[in-house]
Amino acid sequence: MERGSRACIHRFIRRARRHTEEERVSRQLINEYRSELDRIVKVGGSLNEGSVRDAFQGLLKSWGRSNDLTYLSEHKMTGSGGNIYVDGALVYDIRVPFGYWEAKDSKDDLDEEIRKKEAKGYPRTNIIYEDTKRAVLIQDRVRVAEADMADTDELHALMTRFFAYEQESIRDFRKAIGKFAEDLPAILEALRERIREKREASTEYSAAEVAFLKQVKETINPALERADVTEMLIQHILTEDIFNRVFDMRDYHRDNNIAKQLYALERELFGYGEKPKLLQALRPYYTGIEETAHLIQSHSEKQNFLKSLYENFYKVYNPKAADRLGVVYTPGEIVRFMIRSADWLCEQHFGKNLVDPGVEILDPATGTGTYIVELLEYFRGQPDKLRHKYKEELHANEVAILPYYVANLNIEATYQAITGQFAEFEGLCLVDTLDNVDGLGIHSGHQFDMLGALSDENIERVKRQNRRKISVIIGNPPYNANQQNER
Ligand SMILES: C[S@@+](CC[C@H](N)C(=O)[O-])C[C@H]1O[C@@H](n2cnc3c(N)ncnc32)[C@H](O)[C@@H]1O
Repeated sequence: MERGSRACIHRFIRRARRHTEEERVSRQLINEYRSELDRIVKVGGSLNEGSVRDAFQGLLKSWGRSNDLTYLSEHKMTGSGGNIYVDGALVYDIRVPFGYWEAKDSKDDLDEEIRKKEAKGYPRTNIIYEDTKRAVLIQDRVRVAEADMADTDELHALMTRFFAYEQESIRDFRKAIGKFAEDLPAILEALRERIREKREASTEYSAAEVAFLKQVKETINPALERADVTEMLIQHILTEDIFNRVFDMRDYHRDNNIAKQLYALERELFGYGEKPKLLQALRPYYTGIEETAHLIQSHSEKQNFLKSLYENFYKVYNPKAADRLGVVYTPGEIVRFMIRSADWLCEQHFGKNLVDPGVEILDPATGTGTYIVELLEYFRGQPDKLRHKYKEELHANEVAILPYYVANLNIEATYQAITGQFAEFEGLCLVDTLDNVDGLGIHSGHQFDMLGALSDENIERVKRQNRRKISVIIGNPPYNANQQNER
């Protein structure tokens, strides 16, 4: 037999084995679901609808997990007449919805209920409706399967079809992520080369770079060098489009005090039309991001999407720095638990709550701003105190430019979503919390005073934070000490 055809047969066998394995696991999940129902009947004496629902939710969760999907209950969406809450949603790791589940009572007329829900704008991409007896699967607006839920084979076929669904845009986006990892190194090299050339050839660019370096040395860390400015500029150039596209607010990022300076540097770097030409290979990635972001409706899921994009980006862009800085973000559940615990401790020991005036809170390694975002959510029931806290008593530091941008966007967008008003978050500083020169009291006769006169907003913010009496520090700093690959 030819070597080519033998390889082909092996591929076929491998695929068939994989398929059999998937089939075995999914059958097992359905069996577990059946056993759970049986247990419920034995304990409860009858098939109570609420418990049946829990068992089906369990099936969705575990099947979803085996496909790297996360289950979210009571998923909020925008319907034709306002907000709607779908009983369950499964989302990809990039937080884009994969499919939905809506449970009805067995006394309801399921077909009539589906009609009503669709009129309200319930999703029609990939959704299971069920009433504990019958399940209906709708994909791309078409009813593609129905199952008697007591019939294991029918249910298995319907669930398999539900989990086999993949939207075209997601498929394209996944391809684009792979392509991004392939293309980025060459683009990075071209950008670095461009910056080197410009530094030699253009006195304007070189002067703008020196001025910017002076400022970042003062505000971020005195040990920063020209190479760090190059990296900041590159990260800025590569990602500015991403932020604008995900949040669909073209000027949002341009108004940030640091971004303004990086834009000024970028203007010196590129001649007319040069930038799009250089970044051409990344177009599919940017387009994929834009299309995928449009699939996400909820504000908080958009934030999660942005965070996961950012994590992916950084790991391809600079894996060593991603490890050193701790580009791994804390899950919302843990952040919320820590906030509630800190609030409880404050009340127990100091008779004050986090929301009370006079309690100044600092997140020293804010990353994408999760702690501040969750604090705003935690305070949302007390609008006056929330406003005061946001303007005066919440502080966050970040040392790397990319997460700083993401934090800025996330925090301001959350405040706007809660209060209906946009306000700049002046508590955010681009600074090294552990090497904050003003904090260490090096200002007398220090260059810092001269730069202060430039009235750079970031310097002002750092000075303001250092004047404050911080009472609570909450966050998740990097911690890669004593690991095998510690640097
Ligand atoms: C482990 S992440 C946690 C981020 C965020 N608090 C969260 O939990 O989602 C740590 C973040 O702190 C930043 N960081 C590391 N050292 C810092 C320093 N000395 N000053 C300010 N930020 C720092 C890193 O760039 C990274 O974004």
